[in-house]
Order: sequence, then C-alpha cells, then structure tokens
Amino acid sequence: MTAGGPAVTAGPVLAVSEVTVRFGGVVAVRDASLELREKEVVGLIGPNGAGKSSLIGALGGQIPVTRGRVLLGGADITAAPPHRRARLGLCRTFQLTSTFDDLTVFENLLVAALGADGSRLRSSLAGGRARQARVAAAMDSVWDRLTEFDMAEVANLYGSELSGGQRRLVEIMRCLMRSPRVLLLDEPMVGVAPHLVERIQGECQRIRDSGVSIIIVEHALEVVQAICDRVVVMASGSVVAQATYAEAMSSGAVREAYFA
Ligand SMILES: Nc1ncnc2c1ncn2[C@@H]1O[C@H](COP(=O)(O)OP(=O)(O)O)[C@@H](O)[C@H]1O
Ligand SMILES: [Mg+2]
Repeated sequence: MTAGGPAVTAGPVLAVSEVTVRFGGVVAVRDASLELREKEVVGLIGPNGAGKSSLIGALGGQIPVTRGRVLLGGADITAAPPHRRARLGLCRTFQLTSTFDDLTVFENLLVAALGADGSRLRSSLAGGRARQARVAAAMDSVWDRLTEFDMAEVANLYGSELSGGQRRLVEIMRCLMRSPRVLLLDEPMVGVAPHLVERIQGECQRIRDSGVSIIIVEHALEVVQAICDRVVVMASGSVVAQATYAEAMSSGAVREAYFA
C-alpha cells in the first residue's frame, strides 16, 4: 500500500502481445508475447532462423506485423513507422552495421542528435538564430557522448575508417543521442574484436543503469549470462521460455530448441 496519493504501478516499458510476422507463406514469428521492464536487459536468444531478427524488425517498425500488438510505455505503436517509434523512445541497431560511411563519427552522432537524415546534414545545419542555438546544443551533447564513451579521439574519422567494434559503438551512441527508453540491439558483437566485446558488454550495463531498457540478440551465451537480467528464448518462430539465464538453461524445452 502506498500512503497518500494514488498507488503507482509502473507497467512494462515495452509490451508485446501475440505478435505474428509472416513473409508470404513463412511464419517467421508466431504469437510472440513478452514484456520489457524499466532498467532491464533481456537477452533474445535461440538457434538460427528462430525469428529473433524478424521480431526485432517488428518492434523497430521495419517489418509489419501480421497480427498482435506492441505497446511502448502504454502507447500503441503497432503500426507506427520507425522514425515515430524513435521519437517515442525506441531505437534499434542492425545485424549489419548501418553507420553512414561518408560522414565522420561526429557527423554521424550530430545527424542523430538533430533527428535529421544523413543526406541532408548540411541543410539541417543552416538556418536562423534559433536553429543555430539548437545545433550548438546538439554539438555539445555529441561531445559529451563521445567523451563518455571514450571515443573523442575518433570523432573526425569517417565511418568507413572504423573497426567493426568502433562501428558498433558509434551505432549504439547514435541511438542514445535520441534519449531512448528502449534500445534494441541485434547481434552487436558480430565482427567485434575480443577486447571491444568486453567494452560493449560494459557499455550495455552502464546504459541500463542510466535508465534505458535493452533487448539484445546475442549468440555468445557467456555474454548473455554476463549482462542479461532475463532471457527470452525463441525456437521456430515461437517464444519457448522467458526466465533467468540459469532457469532457461535448465529447461527441457530450451535444451531441445538448441541441441535437438
Ligand atoms: N525478408 C524475408 N523474407 C522471407 N523470409 C524471411 C525473411 N526474413 C526472415 N525470413 C525467414 O524467417 C525465419 C526467421 O528468420 P530470422 O528472423 O532472420 O531468424 P534469426 O534472426 O533468429 O536467425 C527464417 O525461416 C527466415 O528464412
Ligand atoms: Mg538474426
């Protein structure tokens, strides 16, 4: 009981109910339901072809859902385009990195901070006094973010000059420039050198501690075990378990999904 004032029951930040994704005759995701709570890191795991990327696409708005509902902070975003979801606080990275190669790291982040589109960066920098104040504030926030991630040294390198791990970090930072509540990461450790894997792992925990909820698709189970508060296990399009890592790994259904 809460004394004085209405009881505050914080609902899940993201609620997915009975989402189905079809590609023609292929059912990639079947009746998937899950909840993501505030400041939680959930690992989305399962064998290849289980439907993980399709579900992430449905949550990010890149792939339309055939059936089901997605709520972000209670607001129905099932049919919202990706840019609207980003404005409402949901941002994702891709299995293949999407850093703009012909922009510098600084410009990549500035584009995101301004909510602009890479091809129109120059025109978005022009404009009157109010506009220029907004750009100056965005530049400050980009420097802050670069310093926080210890990446100021590579601010003037182009996307194409970065290592795999640095590109991942830029992608994650780019999402954070939009101050999201929910961050979706699809295999952020692919193509990343071992020392940067540890670094990205640490950043995920720091991001969670700063108040952002994360869903991460990851194959390396030791990474999942290290950073995830819970796991959601998919197999053949369905969610077969939602539990702590230890509980999931001792479940027959999960072992069957992985090792059958
Ligand atoms: N664009 C697409 N068109 C047709 N089938 C697809 C498409 N994307 C994924 N699929 C199919 O959906 C299923 C799930 O794929 P995916 O979501 O990529 O799985 P995961 O990320 O878990 O490896 C697979 O059978 C895959 O072949
Ligand atoms: Mg995938």
